[in-house]
Amino acid sequence: MVDVKSICCIGAGYVGGPTCAVIAYKCHNIKVTIVDLNQARIDAWNSDKLPIYEPGLEEVVFDRRGKNLFFTTDVDAAIEEADLIFVSVNTPTKKTGMGAGMAADLAYIEGATRRIAEVATRSKIVVEKSTVPCRTAESMRTILEANSTGSIHFDILSNPEFLAEGTAIKDLLNPDRVLIGALQTPEGISAQKSLAAVYQNWVPEDRVITTNLWSSELSKLAANALLAQRISSINALSAICEATGADVDEVAYACGRDSRLGSKFLKASVGFGGSCFQKDILNLVYLSQQLNLPEVADYWQQVVIMNEYQKKRFVRKIISTLFNTITNKRIAVLGFAFKKDTGDTRESAAITLIKDFIDENAHVAIYDPKVEHEQIYMDLAEPGVVDNRKQLEKRISICADAYEACKGADAVVIVTEWDEFKSDQLDYQRIYDNMHKPAFLFDGRLLLDAAQIRAIGFKVHIIGKNELAGTA
Ligand code: NAI
Repeated sequence: MVDVKSICCIGAGYVGGPTCAVIAYKCHNIKVTIVDLNQARIDAWNSDKLPIYEPGLEEVVFDRRGKNLFFTTDVDAAIEEADLIFVSVNTPTKKTGMGAGMAADLAYIEGATRRIAEVATRSKIVVEKSTVPCRTAESMRTILEANSTGSIHFDILSNPEFLAEGTAIKDLLNPDRVLIGALQTPEGISAQKSLAAVYQNWVPEDRVITTNLWSSELSKLAANALLAQRISSINALSAICEATGADVDEVAYACGRDSRLGSKFLKASVGFGGSCFQKDILNLVYLSQQLNLPEVADYWQQVVIMNEYQKKRFVRKIISTLFNTITNKRIAVLGFAFKKDTGDTRESAAITLIKDFIDENAHVAIYDPKVEHEQIYMDLAEPGVVDNRKQLEKRISICADAYEACKGADAVVIVTEWDEFKSDQLDYQRIYDNMHKPAFLFDGRLLLDAAQIRAIGFKVHIIGKNELAGTA
């Protein structure tokens, strides 16, 4: 078993950065070097303004940076020095070619793996941290073995990351479990023990689960599919609630009290976003198709279809409530990140909603406490349209706070559940006073106290709730 003294992490993103910063924070005797090809990202990691926002991340990074935690673009030197290498690069959905729109694009994994093979002059433990299709480790092994020279030996482990953005540091410091998959050979099991020993510096032994490689790879896809499925299930029920007068919060609470179900991830919303859920389910769908299991593929695909339906259903409700037209109306969108406590906008429901509002010729005023303005323009731009930026600037305003966004608005739409948008945090009377009347408010996150907001004078629609419930 290798006593790991030096770790390299390839990919300084939302996963690689926080994960390996926490390892450095908890294991002062291990030198952790996080590398990336993106110079701007590395510069930001070395600056006072980190490239990603996560509660608690600054404390961890500022505590260890320059001591046993380093950020650099010198990928080769870090690979060379490391006993163990995490591969934590992006694995987006393929845009073109075979499996486009579904399969994972493994070009970045392959690029990183080839680099390891070319640079390494001694044996390494190579760890898949990225979420990958089942049996990716086999491809990595083939690349490593074909490109390595002499007596160098590579052990490949799967160690998928289960952190959630917004609570990444909390999740990493106190994980429900750490999963390590390895080939069940003496070398594989020995490498598994080496990585387990790193985590056991702070994670209790019984939370470190060891499995075979393929179970570990599939478990990550399965966990995300099951989590997203719960959201799509409660969202499907939210449509029934709106049509019947049942209240989705009450239904979720009543169901969640069943200990077999549990209460978490039963919150209805405008739909899930984030870089992972959709991508990983589509990956599972593609895998099922490849394995000639069409019914299984259709089953998981439906989770994504329901998510798209929920977003479109919300947009339709907004338009129909605003007298079937939002042309030239000002729609204030509160929140752009895919969820609270992160600046990440990947696959955010806000993007779909705002594009739909723009298509309907509305003017959209956007406010988010953490998302950079430039990111919003990038997310809303349609590729290929030359003067799109100018057109976009005419259709949207990015505002400094919620009051500015809501000023003169016909409708306010809550898309991200930031605490600062709660009924007791924001002065909704002030917002109401400055809006066109009737003043509409659409809560896509079940964040508000509806009675309190209605008492001000707002016409309120909340997902999964029927305005007329209890009056019939
Ligand atoms: P990201 O896009 O934020 O970061 C990936 C980084 O890898 C980028 O900065 C990119 O420049 C770098 N990179 C790509 N190829 C490289 C190479 N050959 N050498 C050096 N750097 C290279 O992606 P994120 O969100 O950190 O995700 C990484 C993986 O973790 C994905 O597979 C994702 O599915 C998985 N994951 C993501 C979670 C999340 O909440 N974002 C949670 C759990 C898993």
